[in-house]
Amino acid sequence: MKSLLFQLILASFVLSNFDNNVNAGHTSVFVRKEWPSEDIPLDHEIFSVPTGHNAPQQVHITQGDYDGKAVIISWVTPDEPGSSKVQYGTLKGKYEFTAEGKMTNYTFYKYNSGYIHHVLVDGLEYDTKFYYKIGTGDSAREFWFQTPPKIGPDVPYKFGIIGDLGQTYNSLSTLEHYMQSGAQTVLFVGDLSYADRYQYNDVGIRWDSWGRFVEKSTAYHPWIWSAGNHEIEYMPYMDEVVPFKSYLQRYPTPHLSCKSSSPMWYAIRRASAHIIVLSSYSPFVKYTPQYEWLSEELKKVDREKTPWLIVLMHMPIYNSNEAHFMEGESMRAVFEEWFVHHRVDVIFAGHVHAYERSYRISNIRYNVSSGECYPVPDKSAPVYITVGDGGNQEGLAGRFLDPQPEYSAFREASYGHSTLEIQNRTHAFYHWNRNDDGKKVATDSFVLHNQYWSSNLRRRKLKKHHLSSVLKSIASY
Ligand SMILES: *[C@@H]1O[C@H](CO)[C@@H](O)[C@H](O)[C@H]1NC(C)=O
Ligand SMILES: *[C@@H]1O[C@H](CO)[C@@H](O)[C@H](O)[C@H]1NC(C)=O
Ligand SMILES: *[C@@H]1O[C@H](CO)[C@@H](O)[C@H](O)[C@H]1NC(C)=O
Ligand SMILES: [Fe+2]
Repeated sequence: MKSLLFQLILASFVLSNFDNNVNAGHTSVFVRKEWPSEDIPLDHEIFSVPTGHNAPQQVHITQGDYDGKAVIISWVTPDEPGSSKVQYGTLKGKYEFTAEGKMTNYTFYKYNSGYIHHVLVDGLEYDTKFYYKIGTGDSAREFWFQTPPKIGPDVPYKFGIIGDLGQTYNSLSTLEHYMQSGAQTVLFVGDLSYADRYQYNDVGIRWDSWGRFVEKSTAYHPWIWSAGNHEIEYMPYMDEVVPFKSYLQRYPTPHLSCKSSSPMWYAIRRASAHIIVLSSYSPFVKYTPQYEWLSEELKKVDREKTPWLIVLMHMPIYNSNEAHFMEGESMRAVFEEWFVHHRVDVIFAGHVHAYERSYRISNIRYNVSSGECYPVPDKSAPVYITVGDGGNQEGLAGRFLDPQPEYSAFREASYGHSTLEIQNRTHAFYHWNRNDDGKKVATDSFVLHNQYWSSNLRRRKLKKHHLSSVLKSIASY
């Protein structure tokens, strides 16, 4: 009886807190299936091989250092090694500088990869458009990229967030909508090509087709990579047992510049954001390299320089879809307390093929003997957003838990992508854009207030600090 009463009081407390926060969660009944969940046939023009002997293909770039003054440019030459040189400059067709990188190749079952080139182009000026050229003679190809502005607390910047993309007509729609969004960089939350849905040599072939598929964006905009379960490719039936083999060969990350021991987890700073990339499928419990690294990286976050603290991972920590329910519990148990303590602004994940956004909630009082195991409203907690709705061949995850748990604010099983448009140190505009009859429709939108600069606590502290320094300056006169 006593415990029932206690539970009632607790429940009303939890409910009233949610009421104070925001309205009750919303499950959108809208489902826009669009095209069938099938990969685009290999002979479709979207996968076409560029003309010219041994022409570079699958061109993609990513940030190459900690602060955005470098890019890593990668591509594949199919027939022979060719050159690993990039010519670049600030004028189109006039390439003053050259950078040289490395070539690698690998086998997967009986598939032999093309010659994969990775070139670090560094020491670049901020906020500058660079043109670059790769390949030689008739087969040479030219692209461009724009370096981000110098790190600073009020630097506006627009990120796109894409997950679980694959290579279907729905994937194509998501990709095109991102390209129309005006965003400048992709935060990719894992599961790239879905090549592991194929067997034998087709695995490698579908990695190549995906590289050509996304090139119209990845050759120009940096994509910040994180790995999903479809990158693991543990396939003992064909003697392929090295996890992440294709992914690691093809998609390098700047992990050394943040002292990470693995390309699977790392951090970058870009404009006014500090972005931490975690690996859901690498060891992360206490004493593992990822755990030790994250503990150090969080100490390096300087909200005076980069107010926005964003974390990317593949597996969501809060998810109310029947698909992959509770899979994120182990990482939640290890890292949630840090995310709350360090006031992470937003955590983006994929994996679940639907869209979902949480309220600011936490479940950090839990221990195995306390029994306090229910998430509660917590103003210091991040917003958790799942965008595993890129449009891959596995289709949508349409079954949500019913009733909608209190921690879930909005959810819909349609394809799409998100954008996060940082305005200054306090405000960012967030949108989830549904793919709707080939158009993008902003469906879930809100203003994200910065966890460090917008909170009352912080303002009060600043005021007090300001007041005491005013008093001090008076006193010294
Ligand atoms: C890489 O390419 C070289 C040169 O063509 C070839 O001799 C070698 O066997 C290839 N290695 C792998 C692992 O495919
Ligand atoms: C577990 O949680 C309970 C209730 O919050 C607390 O009293 C207790 O000290 C915790 N145990 C440990 C070992 O932290
Ligand atoms: C930050 O951006 C928001 C939204 O555009 C605006 O309302 C606010 O005044 C800006 N704050 C500062 C300090 O510029
Ligand atoms: Fe996944």
